[in-house]
Amino acid sequence: MAQTAPPPIAMLAELTHRCPLSCPYCSNPVEMTRRDSEMDTDTWVRVFDEAAALGVLQLHLSGGEPASRRDLVTLVQAARQAGLYTNLITSAIGLTEQRLHELDAAGLDHVQLSLQGTDAVMADKVGGYRGGFDRKMKAVEWIKQIGFPLTLNFVLHRHNAHQLPRALELAQDMGARRIEVATVQFHGWALQNRDALMPTREQAQQVTQHVTEARKALKGTLVIDYVPADYHSDYPKRCMGGWGTTGLNVTPDGQVLPCHAAQSIPHLRFDRVQDKSLAEIWHHNAAFNAYRGTGWMSEPCQSCERKTVDFGGCRCQAMAIIGDASATDPVCIKSPHHKQLQAQANQHAARVDAPFVYRTAPGTAREPAE
Ligand code: SF4
Ligand code: FES
Repeated sequence: MAQTAPPPIAMLAELTHRCPLSCPYCSNPVEMTRRDSEMDTDTWVRVFDEAAALGVLQLHLSGGEPASRRDLVTLVQAARQAGLYTNLITSAIGLTEQRLHELDAAGLDHVQLSLQGTDAVMADKVGGYRGGFDRKMKAVEWIKQIGFPLTLNFVLHRHNAHQLPRALELAQDMGARRIEVATVQFHGWALQNRDALMPTREQAQQVTQHVTEARKALKGTLVIDYVPADYHSDYPKRCMGGWGTTGLNVTPDGQVLPCHAAQSIPHLRFDRVQDKSLAEIWHHNAAFNAYRGTGWMSEPCQSCERKTVDFGGCRCQAMAIIGDASATDPVCIKSPHHKQLQAQANQHAARVDAPFVYRTAPGTAREPAE
């Protein structure tokens, strides 16, 4: 089989869209996969083998909440046997001490823990789950005792941006080696929540300044990865490390995507692992090749010196904002839509009373916490 691209480094396995939380910032699609459409254990195990054979090194087990899968321990074991480095992306709500020990015995390499807020009031409100923060903190004790390498993932938005200093303290208290301070990215459910979640420009600037200072102060103690508020930025992020370049996503029902929001680009057709091998999909699926490299770009990207730095930004964002996935990401200062996007961001940020639209999956709807 002819190869079209170097192999991916990482695969995100969305094991399920089920989740005990209902965060309005969730990037899962609004149309979520039902439990009875999820792939079974054997199919996932085959996919992990195929991923390792393709050259994938890191497997991110995600969701929804991956712990909602009863076979999670078996899946971790299989992934390790395939030679993959395993990272569990979890809210930790629903993880028991016994299950964490089983995951440790299965060889789980790393835990990435989401943090909705730094106290119960904020965290339970954002997660839409009363008592969630206390359960998370309990699980953190077990994670620490077992000694899993830990990364904290703090999704930051207008309501919790002021909690960043405390989030950095919490990360250190938890013994995390790394914290990802990720300003909400507006895909999936989050796109429905731009009025409620958009940070103000001032907040975005304060967060950037705080991260810069904290990186200096905590050098050697805590690594801080930072995803700035791109609606308030002048240059876009290099989304997914470049389309079809370093990673791929597999959805709960087996569709293989170049990024988690790719289904929002209506003309793309995706293959499923039930029908084709992962290698065939990676190299030959038309959706993967649609925005690979730089050949697909038009101006201003095509003649821009940054085109191999950011690969024109995020295709899904270009689709969501201006309805053209092949356009320059409107975050970019060179895009004709940049000013309009910034004005739009300020309008969203000014909607101070906008309510959360909580993520609800079939069969998992919860009463939002007050
Ligand atoms: Fe990136 Fe395109 Fe903007 Fe240049 S014009 S900085 S390649 S998004
Ligand atoms: Fe799809 Fe950025 S989320 S390219």
